[in-house]
Amino acid sequence: MTNKKSYGVSLRNVVKAYDDNIVLKGIDLEIAPGSLTTLLGPSGCGKTTILRLIAGLELPTSGQLFLGDEDVSTLSASRRDVAMVFQSYALFPHMTVGENVGYGLKVQKVPASERKDRIAAALDSVGMGGFQERYIDQISGGQQQRVAVARALILEPHVMLFDEPLSNLDTKLRRQMREDIRRLQQETGITSVYVTHDQNEALSVSDAVLVMKAGEISQLGTPEELYLQPKSEFVATFMGDANIVDADLSFKNKKAFASINGYKLELISDTRGQDAGPVRLAIRPEALTMVKGESKTGICGVVTSRAYIGSGTEYVTRWKDADIFTVMPTTGDQFKLGDMVHMEISSIGVSVIMG
Ligand SMILES: Nc1ncnc2c1ncn2[C@@H]1O[C@H](COP(=O)(O)OP(=O)(O)OP(=O)(O)O)[C@@H](O)[C@H]1O
Ligand SMILES: [Mg+2]
Repeated sequence: MTNKKSYGVSLRNVVKAYDDNIVLKGIDLEIAPGSLTTLLGPSGCGKTTILRLIAGLELPTSGQLFLGDEDVSTLSASRRDVAMVFQSYALFPHMTVGENVGYGLKVQKVPASERKDRIAAALDSVGMGGFQERYIDQISGGQQQRVAVARALILEPHVMLFDEPLSNLDTKLRRQMREDIRRLQQETGITSVYVTHDQNEALSVSDAVLVMKAGEISQLGTPEELYLQPKSEFVATFMGDANIVDADLSFKNKKAFASINGYKLELISDTRGQDAGPVRLAIRPEALTMVKGESKTGICGVVTSRAYIGSGTEYVTRWKDADIFTVMPTTGDQFKLGDMVHMEISSIGVSVIMG
């Protein structure tokens, strides 16, 4: 697969309305050339709409969209160098695997001999070499997924869009496929935008993650930034589990400290722009270690729920009005319902909620 010059994608104050229903409320977004950016957010927040706008399947109500330096705001889909993998795959059932993958090249009138080579290479790249002659209903769902990716890749587009490409697959296949997609994306350097509901998928494959809520951007950052430095409670709880806890922020010798019910913890997360005083913290479950017995400070309460999940045990501890969620390894101390416990808190995985 050749390496084309990668294009960035820019959305500038993009609004999309259907009648008086405004589904994108002025999106400003810069997607770096050659990167993989994931869109994450609840159902109906506008993820697919952003992909459809980039593809040219919809036009913005107002605002501008750039592919590289070119303003494509009013350009039709066929005139944009963009390929999309749909959630439904949208393969042609009456064609073979090879015909499906080569369809776009045929439309572009690429000669048969070159087509044949490129089909073989595209199928090889997704681990589907040798499946050319099969019909779509003769391959599994996971294999169809790979064919859909090959059909988009073969066009060597400047931009690839993936709309929840793995949602129909089981966990193991999903992990393998997301690694394959990431590898292909990095090998080809094709700028990619990827929609998923799965936070693990978003964290593991992306250069950047965009969390959206009701047609607006909540936060854009690297996976680490979003996980360790969420700006709002919405982002903190959407990107994995977070305990939201009241605390008191103080500063001493350029260091920041949080006092959680008298338990003093040095903060290593970003506290720039924060004033001393009451704040809310997002505490990841892995920052908490349960210890048997009572304590006068910090988080302390009775275990109210326990669930064995194989790799560990999940616990809920009732503290004041809050349910504190933790995950403990099955190798260490075990706790029973009704046990009185308190928490040791590590600085990694604790951040101040700004919003
Ligand atoms: N053609 C359309 N006409 C009217 N409303 C639409 C149309 N397409 C989408 N919408 C509305 O726009 C909003 C955003 O839809 P979109 O498909 O972008 O959501 P999404 O984030 O992809 O959700 P999901 O995770 O469920 O796929 C929704 O409220 C949806 O009902
Ligand atoms: Mg969608």
